[in-house]
Amino acid sequence: MHGQGQFVSPFTTLALVAILALTNATLPETVKWTGGSFEWPCSTTRNMFKSSGKYISKNVIATRVAMFENKAIVALPRYKAGIPATLAQISHKSENCEATLVPYPCWSLQEEGTCTALQNVVDIYLDPQNILWVLDTGVVSTLDEPVRKCPPKVLAINVVTGKLVKTIDLTGLTTSTSRLQYLVSDYSRDGRVFVYVSDAASRAILVYDVTLGRGHRVVLPQAVATGATRRDVLYLALLRRSDGSTCLIFTYLSSSRMFSIRTEHLRSGSANGKIHDLGAKPKKMVLLGTDNGSALFFRYEGESDVYRWDATNPFVSRCFDQVYTSADCSLVTHVVADYARARMRVLESNFPDYMQGSVGCGATQSLSVM
Ligand SMILES: *[C@@H]1O[C@H](CO)[C@@H](O)[C@H](O)[C@H]1NC(C)=O
Repeated sequence: MHGQGQFVSPFTTLALVAILALTNATLPETVKWTGGSFEWPCSTTRNMFKSSGKYISKNVIATRVAMFENKAIVALPRYKAGIPATLAQISHKSENCEATLVPYPCWSLQEEGTCTALQNVVDIYLDPQNILWVLDTGVVSTLDEPVRKCPPKVLAINVVTGKLVKTIDLTGLTTSTSRLQYLVSDYSRDGRVFVYVSDAASRAILVYDVTLGRGHRVVLPQAVATGATRRDVLYLALLRRSDGSTCLIFTYLSSSRMFSIRTEHLRSGSANGKIHDLGAKPKKMVLLGTDNGSALFFRYEGESDVYRWDATNPFVSRCFDQVYTSADCSLVTHVVADYARARMRVLESNFPDYMQGSVGCGATQSLSVM
């Protein structure tokens, strides 16, 4: 160590090592960014994307997140044009800077119009075997002028290796009017893996047995849409009971009641008489996620308070605990367990402004611990 090295004191070196170790170990408690700054392979690529309208930073918004060790992977739905990647990892280099986005698992999987690649990721779910399930509707520019680029599909990515391990074409389980919105996955007691996807337009839950490579559609009873003026958003959440069994909680945004079904009934395809009416919702509810156990997080439509309900308790408002409040114009879009921090992570943004087209330089997004 000669030359410029002599100016680096041992303390500085140690501090640098510590900082590097820290960035590797955990994401900071709060990570913020505006619009979408990507890490490009080189500046020529960036300029090419920009000049051809394939990169418009203010059109990028993260709505869903998966936490794996120190990694945060986000869904960037292609609501508008100019979103170069629809699935990305958050990169956070220093405490004072905004986070940047790294296409996940790679650039080649992001190309619009290439049907082996991702077209429009609207939801992601990390399962207990470290498989990230990715729901791709195949329809882009959904807020401006929707264009179907490719069939709807679900991709499975191993987050340990970053390898794509499975692609499931959902064409056979959907119709041209389907609106796929949320997904979760689950393992049956005999080790088979299943994926459940909500289809708001057909009032159905798609059930796909990944192990056997086949699926079916469970059409929900009319009562599920009671109070809903239209089939707007069909939320799904997977809850785990202490005995190891799992159930799916579901409701339409504007319907008046909350429902659940044991996943074993969904798997066998016989939902009739197996759906539980958990009770009335006080107001329109936006389901935000779970703690990967028996607790569900939600907020009321347009409101900044986040509540936690433990499904071992009755579904009544005295059992809803307020656990978080967003600042200013922000609203939470996803809550997930962050095992590295042993806390809950909250993804929030001013997405109502984004939807209105009034974000200026881009949506303000943050990923923080609760
Ligand atoms: C969620 O809970 C299950 C069951 O307790 C556990 O095996 C798994 O590691 C947890 N984490 C994720 C990301 O699924």
